[in-house]
Amino acid sequence: MNVMDAIKARRSIRSYKDQPVEPEKLQQVLEAARLAPSANNRQEWKFIVVQDPATRQALVRPCHNQAFVGQAPVVIAACSTNPTRVMASGQSAAAVDLAIAVDHLTLVAVELGLGTCWIGAFDAPAVAKLLGVPSDVAVVHVLPLGYPADSPGAHRAKPASEVICHEKWS
Ligand SMILES: Cc1cc2nc3c(=O)[nH]c(=O)nc-3n(C[C@H](O)[C@H](O)[C@H](O)COP(=O)(O)O)c2cc1C
Repeated sequence: MNVMDAIKARRSIRSYKDQPVEPEKLQQVLEAARLAPSANNRQEWKFIVVQDPATRQALVRPCHNQAFVGQAPVVIAACSTNPTRVMASGQSAAAVDLAIAVDHLTLVAVELGLGTCWIGAFDAPAVAKLLGVPSDVAVVHVLPLGYPADSPGAHRAKPASEVICHEKWS
């Protein structure tokens, strides 16, 4: 599978099989995150891999009761160790860096037959408390990972004419 195939095949998976993720596959998706680019190559991140069933279940409530978070055999909490850093552009380095890393992870997951779903609707302080995250570290993204138990239809993307322009804003 090439990168474009993985981009086209990736979907948000909200139902997971009761099937563990093989350690070597887990290692590969984490490697995809670890190797991602970051602002100034600072790599100010840490990825908490949650496999304990009780902890996964406990994550459901702070993830706005999204039950599939507890159903997935693995939940990854992508954390920034420098959450207040702002780049010259005015944008949050943590949000950008962690999004790139997690996106790498989601695409390698597709290649390995695994599914993921970005979770942005979560109570970050509650998740941090549950996972023992220090106060100067922020949980930026939560991501369930596992074998898909559903196959959503095609991704609905806006047409290129609406989201791409050339030379100047139009
Ligand atoms: C930053 C971010 C946060 C998201 N948060 C949630 C979420 O909390 N729960 C959920 O079910 N989907 C969430 N999604 C998934 C989006 O709804 C989904 O990506 C979008 O509808 C497109 O569908 P697709 O991913 O299947 O192509 C999130 C996606 C992103 C990128």
